[in-house]
Amino acid sequence: MRLLRKSQSSLSGTVLLLLSLFLAAAAAAAEDRANKSSLAGILWATGKDESDLLADMESDDAVDGDVGDELAGGFSSLEGMLHWAIGHSDPVKLKEKASDVQRLSAAELGKRQMEIKELMEKLKMPSDAELMKIAIADLNNSSISLENRQRALNELLILVEPIDNANDLDKIGGLVAVVRELDNSETEIRTTAAWILGKASQNNALVQSQILSLGVLTNLMKMVKSSAREESIKALYAISALIRNNEKGQQLFYFENGYLMLQDIMSNVSIDIRLQKKAALLVADLADYQQGNADAEKHPPLRDPALLKAVVDLTSTSDLDLQEKAMLAIRSLLQLPFTKAVDFKDICDLEQVLERIKVQLEELMYEDEQRDYAADMEILRKEVHIIFHRKLDKVSWVPT
Ligand SMILES: *[C@@H]1O[C@H](CO)[C@@H](O)[C@H](O)[C@H]1NC(C)=O
Ligand SMILES: *[C@@H]1O[C@H](CO)[C@@H](O)[C@H](O)[C@H]1NC(C)=O
Ligand SMILES: *[C@@H]1O[C@H](CO)[C@@H](O)[C@H](O)[C@H]1NC(C)=O
Ligand SMILES: *[C@@H]1O[C@H](CO)[C@@H](O)[C@H](O)[C@H]1NC(C)=O
Repeated sequence: MRLLRKSQSSLSGTVLLLLSLFLAAAAAAAEDRANKSSLAGILWATGKDESDLLADMESDDAVDGDVGDELAGGFSSLEGMLHWAIGHSDPVKLKEKASDVQRLSAAELGKRQMEIKELMEKLKMPSDAELMKIAIADLNNSSISLENRQRALNELLILVEPIDNANDLDKIGGLVAVVRELDNSETEIRTTAAWILGKASQNNALVQSQILSLGVLTNLMKMVKSSAREESIKALYAISALIRNNEKGQQLFYFENGYLMLQDIMSNVSIDIRLQKKAALLVADLADYQQGNADAEKHPPLRDPALLKAVVDLTSTSDLDLQEKAMLAIRSLLQLPFTKAVDFKDICDLEQVLERIKVQLEELMYEDEQRDYAADMEILRKEVHIIFHRKLDKVSWVPT
């Protein structure tokens, strides 16, 4: 990606020059076609502001998406548009049209046409697969500079987002190469590598199992304990993405005592709040996955009273977002057939906690900025209260 952007900006002087000529060519050609097609309108509509066009070309969106489609309106690619303009430009007409821009001889115009063709070649985008191969080849190269290694990872981070690219990654040795970087001595490199693994495996069962089979979980869990904030956050992000809705991944996670790691994160007051949010969300995810699991043999350690208490205690945070995520996790845990209502009652003191939150929310209702949050949260709190009491005593219904 950065490769592209670099070549585009170094070319932008040339682009500007050629673009004005191109517009003249387009105008000449469009006039020839008179009103027979809508092409002329499209061209003028898109070509009316050169600086906008260039801005588009250099913006992130344009790099990520189809520059061609946006630029050319009716054309499938930028290349197609340029081909059309060259094919339809008559040097004589072009000369007339270009006269307000620049006075050029017919010979010069012919030369400019060649330049447009060359420019097209340079702008021609390599496929994502080609870009990924370049980045991976860089990662494979042990003599590459740290800066280039980081850049290759940053490029992969963007490239793995589309699911097709993520699926291709393993075929070209990409997963092995990225996983290797988890052992890099540089924090930033390790952090980006974990981030890539998380992104590539997000909602992608194939890539999840490919990465899991490389045995990364232990390594990522070690990274979660890092003193570097970003590293631990990205590592926990990667773990969550890897094991979400993934039976094998969750078995490995429990086998590695991952729930103890989550418990430590949630009960440590000096830990980064973003990490605690991720931990609470992961607990909710893991619990949701176990809904309906009545098989006593396979109960994961989610019923551990210490874990339940860590989640419930999180609700005393002053961060409202974290409080909400903790509440969601409590709701999911309460709904598990194998967690015990009595643990929530006696060990977690959930009754008092819900009462305290109720009072807190009533106060928040008086604050303009917090009213919406308080209203939503009260709905959730009530729901938790009902589920809790149904679980405590399957007969009585205790609305508040
Ligand atoms: C093309 O359309 C324009 C208005 O959009 C009109 O002024 C012009 O006369 C039309 N030319 C032809 C050849 O129909
Ligand atoms: C990178 O190295 C791996 C082995 O470590 C290999 O499978 C892969 O083909 C290499 N990829 C590139 C693009 O060099
Ligand atoms: C590896 O990187 C070094 C330094 O950038 C470069 O000189 C060399 O050609 C690269 N090797 C390969 C196989 O690409
Ligand atoms: C709590 O987190 C801090 C900061 O990450 C860490 O230094 C400390 O060891 C942790 N405490 C416990 C008891 O795990």
